[in-house]
Amino acid sequence: MRFSRIPLLLLAGLPLAAAEPVDGRQIFGDHCASCHGTDGRARTPAGRKVGAKDLAQSTASEAEVRERILAGLKDPGGAIRMPSFADRLSPEAVSAVAAYVKTFRR
Ligand code: HEC
Repeated sequence: MRFSRIPLLLLAGLPLAAAEPVDGRQIFGDHCASCHGTDGRARTPAGRKVGAKDLAQSTASEAEVRERILAGLKDPGGAIRMPSFADRLSPEAVSAVAAYVKTFRR
């Protein structure tokens, strides 16, 4: 019984180790790059079709970026130009990808 504490300690560490890693770059690649491009410059067929703009030129604050990710964007006729990610990304993921979006600026 002397060693029984070791597995308990390992178990105690599990929730941390199992938590989903939040990597803004990867989230961008998975959810945003199809339109905005891996370099953020929107030089993709889908990006051209919906008129996505170069994120390096964006002057939106980080809060505005988060807001855009959550709300998405429709054109005046109601067609979706950028989808809402509110149901797909956790608040942590939204923050991480918003911070990553700002790295395209120089
Ligand atoms: C279906 C294409 C599409 C996808 C996918 C997409 N966007 Fe967009 N996004 C757009 C369009 C279109 C606009 C409006 C024009 C523009 O500002 O680029 C836009 C605008 C933005 C803006 C506002 C830029 C500004 O300064 O006004 C940000 C920030 C942004 N997108 C980030 C993201 C992030 C982060 C993701 C992934 C979570 C994402 N977008 C996924 C099409 C897309």
